[in-house]
Amino acid sequence: MTSSTFSDRADHVLHTAHQGGAWWRSAVIYQIYPRSFADANGDGIGDLAGITTRLPYLRALGVDAIWLSPFYTSPQADAGYDVADYRDIDPLFGSLADADLLIKSAHDLALKVIVDLVPNHSSDEHPWFQTALASAPGSPERDRYMFRDGSGPGGGEPPNNWQSVFGGPAWSRAAEPGTPGQWYLHLFDAKQPDFNWQNADVRHEFEDVLRFWLDRGVDGFRVDVAHGLVKAPGLPDWSGPMNMLDLVDKDLDRPPMWDQDPVHEIYRSWRKILDSYNPPSAVDHDAAQDRVMCAEAWVDPPERAALYVRDGEFHQAFNFDFLQSDWTARSLHRNITRSLEANDGVGAPTTWVLSNHDVVRHASRLGLPIGTPRPNGIGVGDPQPDPVLGLRRARAATTLMLALPGGAYLYQGEELGLPEHTTMPDAARQDPTWERTRHAERGRDGARVPIPWEEAAPTYGFGPTGRSWLPQPEVYGELAVDQQDGREGSTLELYRLLLRTRAEHHLGEGSLIWLDAGQDVVSFENATVQGRVRVLLNLGGAPLPLPDDAVLLAASGPVDEGVVPVDTTVWFTAGGHQ
Ligand code: NOJ
Repeated sequence: MTSSTFSDRADHVLHTAHQGGAWWRSAVIYQIYPRSFADANGDGIGDLAGITTRLPYLRALGVDAIWLSPFYTSPQADAGYDVADYRDIDPLFGSLADADLLIKSAHDLALKVIVDLVPNHSSDEHPWFQTALASAPGSPERDRYMFRDGSGPGGGEPPNNWQSVFGGPAWSRAAEPGTPGQWYLHLFDAKQPDFNWQNADVRHEFEDVLRFWLDRGVDGFRVDVAHGLVKAPGLPDWSGPMNMLDLVDKDLDRPPMWDQDPVHEIYRSWRKILDSYNPPSAVDHDAAQDRVMCAEAWVDPPERAALYVRDGEFHQAFNFDFLQSDWTARSLHRNITRSLEANDGVGAPTTWVLSNHDVVRHASRLGLPIGTPRPNGIGVGDPQPDPVLGLRRARAATTLMLALPGGAYLYQGEELGLPEHTTMPDAARQDPTWERTRHAERGRDGARVPIPWEEAAPTYGFGPTGRSWLPQPEVYGELAVDQQDGREGSTLELYRLLLRTRAEHHLGEGSLIWLDAGQDVVSFENATVQGRVRVLLNLGGAPLPLPDDAVLLAASGPVDEGVVPVDTTVWFTAGGHQ
């Protein structure tokens, strides 16, 4: 191959460069799942004190910010996404003093802190829901949630046919002393009643919760189920899939429980609150101090998702289309193009993500045969991923992702190349999905296993006592941080190199120009004011030579004598560029 094979399609420039723009336009944000990151008190569940002690590791990794999954007071029916008190920390994780120390310690290391906000539903143990249960149908207390009379004789049937995302009906009947009760809506577990976002108390409460955490110094919020807060008037029946994952990229009507237009007005009011902490119009506005919101909105097509990041709404939204791409040049090319175009259309940065606490880790997902529908968990008896192929592809996928302009999200442990725990005993499972689907779907526990720090320590260094709320697979030992630290070619060292090089070359702030390098190749140039970096992912059946003048900056796997093996991504400069 010669360099001429990489023909520019300079007319096809995506993503307006934002050199020197606000931090969140290009930030790399590391997701911490507090239950499973580091356990300081030895109860087998991670905690805030554990996170604080490990912050220097994240500083050295080279990320810009951390996002913490929920740590609030919660009965933990959905691992903390069932909040009983939005203004306090669950004793499992520590105290408000621990949170203050964590935020301060992160800031001292120049790490931003983003917390999870869960506004679609509370816990059934939230005082408001308990009061609602104790109050009469039609009362103001009940109006804060979605109570309805049942259908059928005696109201004995649910008000409509909606199913919970976790399986089973989306309605449960409230017991009312002496009378058959009303029903309440829960799009997730029965212990997660949905709020009524037409109710003024709910709106005021969340505005206040935002201020509570902003006043404590957080830099932003990841907003859970951002597309679900408002339901279609009349709550009409819906026969399409309820699972958010199944809705993406399907040519269906908009479901009545997701992506209803009035959600946007809520986010406009929140944005004003965030902006009031660093007014954009102020003469001394400092973009480094922007407080940000990121939407978890499983919305399709990308043009609808882009509405969430219009001026005056969210700063970012997760890009689940990228995460769901097939391991083919066509699918990756299409999803990257569509998301950049849709976000360019509203002047917002795109984000990229490959793993989180809700999906099978990408080191395992990509080890399944291409075209396998993305499973909701993998367990004993299921077809098992190929771990070697999965890791090779995962490293290539990440190397592709971190070269793309925009922000990127990493999920704890992916920098170690951790696989999903795909042989976890079913008896250990805690995700409500497992029981609610009557064991049809294993759910998300395999992605939530405590991460390994030291091979030779109990629980691989997760905590001091050998206790771990989920069992760890044996392979986590050899993948522990102390086994990869400083070892050439380890996944940890690859991530460090990628993050360092990405920062040096300002890749998050660049513009993407597609290059033609063959149909089984994803190749582009990322142009920043620093220069141009070329990226190539070989998805074909044979190794691919690089241009003679290529200078390699990073590679997801071994590149000998300028030849890029299959399932490998490289970054290089060429042709006098740079
Ligand atoms: C999305 C969260 O990421 C997931 O873990 C949770 O179960 C649901 N929202 C419900 O809060």
